[in-house]
Amino acid sequence: MPTVGARLRDTTRRLEEAGVPSPQHDAIVLIAHTLGLQPSYIRTAAARDDEWPPGADLDLLEARVTRRVEREPLQHITGKAYFRSLELQVGPGVFVPRPETEVVAGVAIAAARAALELRGEVRVTDLCAGSGAIGISVATEIPEAEVAMVEASEEALVYLRLNARYQPTDVRRRLRTVYGDARNCLRQFDACADVVVSNPPYVPTDAVPRDPEVARHDPPQALYGLGEDGLDVPRAILDEAQRLLRVGGVVVMEHGDDQGAAMRAYAESSEWWGDVRTLTDLTGRDRMLVATRVGV
Ligand SMILES: C[S@@+](CC[C@H](N)C(=O)[O-])C[C@H]1O[C@@H](n2cnc3c(N)ncnc32)[C@H](O)[C@@H]1O
Repeated sequence: MPTVGARLRDTTRRLEEAGVPSPQHDAIVLIAHTLGLQPSYIRTAAARDDEWPPGADLDLLEARVTRRVEREPLQHITGKAYFRSLELQVGPGVFVPRPETEVVAGVAIAAARAALELRGEVRVTDLCAGSGAIGISVATEIPEAEVAMVEASEEALVYLRLNARYQPTDVRRRLRTVYGDARNCLRQFDACADVVVSNPPYVPTDAVPRDPEVARHDPPQALYGLGEDGLDVPRAILDEAQRLLRVGGVVVMEHGDDQGAAMRAYAESSEWWGDVRTLTDLTGRDRMLVATRVGV
């Protein structure tokens, strides 16, 4: 029986040959997930070249490695995605939350904290919620925040509800999930929100994602923002945010790194938005529109 180190090297090599971007990381995660151990334990066991544990399910590991070689997302294979402090359940039919969105969530959380200080309470709406990564982070990190999360895909809604349900009681009771079109399904809640945050679909219609994980496994409804520039849905979400926010409320919306100017121009064309800005992600790329709802 090969040692843990030998199996890790072999798995890493197979993933590397398949073009997986971080082969050693993914090999460690797949081995750890199959053995029911922490990745850090696998790293240590590989460095010590420990014996492979007797009774470990090699067929299961092989099946999982094969799925990753075929470029199925790692998170679909483990069923888990990590986002800020959360472990979320994900799988086919729901968008896998991305690291750059953690920064978007952070900006929304800062805006919500400022509103809480001012008003003593805070309401946040996450439009296009997917797995609930942003909305559940807000409710987890701000113990006073009331959070509504809107999602239009039935498949994604299953994960959204599951993730909301599996939070601690105090977080769960402040979360609402809504099934519907974020462009118009909250019509009875005019001027109720302090912060509207959204990571909507924004990929242009004719763009084909480079990574097979994205092209083959992210739901098209989660990617394509419609219209030639991919911004039809984001623009409609911005219009909706304008209605949902109270005066002084803040919208935070993710977009592609080449869409900052177009989203700013759209916001600035409306008399209802002030302090319109583009903020960057941790790699310095334009990543989100931030604007304040003003009274006229
Ligand atoms: C890019 S994903 C983002 C998901 C999640 N907010 C995140 O950051 O991980 C966009 C999500 O919006 C949903 N969606 C697309 N169009 C929508 C619409 N008109 N109304 C509500 N949700 C929509 C998709 O199903 C998908 O779950």
